[in-house]
Amino acid sequence: MPNKISKVFYGTLIHSLSLANLEILQNTLLGVDISGKIAFLEKNVLDEITLIHIISQWEFPEQEVIRLSKRQFLMPGFIDTHTHASQYPNAGTGMDLPLLDWLNKYTFPLEQSYSSLSFAEKVYPIVVNNLLRSGTTTAVYFTTIHLESSKYLARLVKEKGQRGFIGKVNMDCNSPENYIESLDNSVKSTEEFIKYVLNLEKDEGRENGSRLVYPIITPRFAITCTSQLMDSLGLLAKKYNMPIQSHLSENIGEINFISELFPHLPDYTTVYDHHGLLNEKTIMAHGIHLSSKELKLIKERNIGISHCPTSNFAICSGVCNVRQLLDEGIKVGLGTDLSGGYSKSILNAIRNANIASRVVFMASSKVDDKPLNKSFPHLTLPELTYLATMGGAELVNLDKIIGNFLIGKEFDALLIDPDACQSPLDIFDDLEDIERIFEKFIFLGDERNLKSVYVKGKKVSGTDLESMNLREKELLKNLSKLYGGNCHLCNPNS
Ligand code: GUN
Ligand code: FE
Repeated sequence: MPNKISKVFYGTLIHSLSLANLEILQNTLLGVDISGKIAFLEKNVLDEITLIHIISQWEFPEQEVIRLSKRQFLMPGFIDTHTHASQYPNAGTGMDLPLLDWLNKYTFPLEQSYSSLSFAEKVYPIVVNNLLRSGTTTAVYFTTIHLESSKYLARLVKEKGQRGFIGKVNMDCNSPENYIESLDNSVKSTEEFIKYVLNLEKDEGRENGSRLVYPIITPRFAITCTSQLMDSLGLLAKKYNMPIQSHLSENIGEINFISELFPHLPDYTTVYDHHGLLNEKTIMAHGIHLSSKELKLIKERNIGISHCPTSNFAICSGVCNVRQLLDEGIKVGLGTDLSGGYSKSILNAIRNANIASRVVFMASSKVDDKPLNKSFPHLTLPELTYLATMGGAELVNLDKIIGNFLIGKEFDALLIDPDACQSPLDIFDDLEDIERIFEKFIFLGDERNLKSVYVKGKKVSGTDLESMNLREKELLKNLSKLYGGNCHLCNPNS
């Protein structure tokens, strides 16, 4: 007996079937069951009789079908494969220094503040709300070294219904005096954190396959972790079959420091490999300045690269050649890298990934002083869409669960309204081509176009939810006036 259907959409769907294949389905019916999975997808439903016939087979009432308008469409939720929740307060500032100086001057002092749980309680709800509002249905977070505020972020992500990977940061050397852990503490608190997060969804019976929130082992980078710490984290990853995240080959000064710290190892990628930190569940952010030997090792270990173009431009780390990574068969997703990157939005990451790929394309043509070098063509719209959705799903090893709208996957989706109130994109009446409307949204749209944001079939954000909340607040205010301020809804203590 199939699960009961909780939602049915009728209209246009846009999703990636492969890097090159962006599928656009019009007049399509999509049904989501009560467990949040896509139960059916019927294409070319061209008349009411067929529509009613299909939904009646699923015993779904016709009046509850969510009918998209002509220019609205559904697309998969965005996956941010690398972001620092803790650095959100610095976003948009401090872009005058390269990585290592930037860390010391701006980033470590801010991260230190999360030793106080109440600081985390002020910042983290804003971060999760804003990421959801921007369409990030799955986020891979770095927190700080602090156990309690890291646990708090994990609880919060669960409460707000986002899919998330939460990494308590490890750092036991080359760090400021007031922002460092001992080796022992670092390992112990990481194990406690893993157990805590693995237990979070026990009450909902979501311990295994279907959980929303996962722990991820997070050595900050090889500069701030001793060999012993990295060895221990590699062992923990094996013991609990955990994903791992870190930074790799972001900045030339960083790479030089790595070769001073690990003179016996040939390159940066091998440093992580030597400590058991590279496997198919590893996500490395940046990967800009990799040698061909390192690319080969990355491919062999099947690790994923989180491409963070906004950050790479903002703190002048370099321009990553994503085309080359893809040609080598390496998995690539997109990351905002707050606050090295100033924007919380994956739409912004897509746009900067587009620009970065064009910079590589044009620069490679200049070297030869010939017409544009066709060996590094810039990324296309289907490829950019893939990186933001399916590519991210591959990095977090959820490509069988999310990333597009295949039947059986969980429904993480965005309902986009190009004609929303105060929409930043203008569509002229004669622009009927849905692919061009989609392209306009990708390059000009923002959260005002995100009518609804769904994770696992549940609406968790979006403009209609916010306006409902606002309406509710307005109603409560009026109630409060009516009851002379003693309404128990407005004042839970009354
Ligand atoms: N490398 C080590 N830590 C960081 C960080 O917080 N941000 C970025 N962009 N790179 C890093
Ligand atoms: Fe980062």
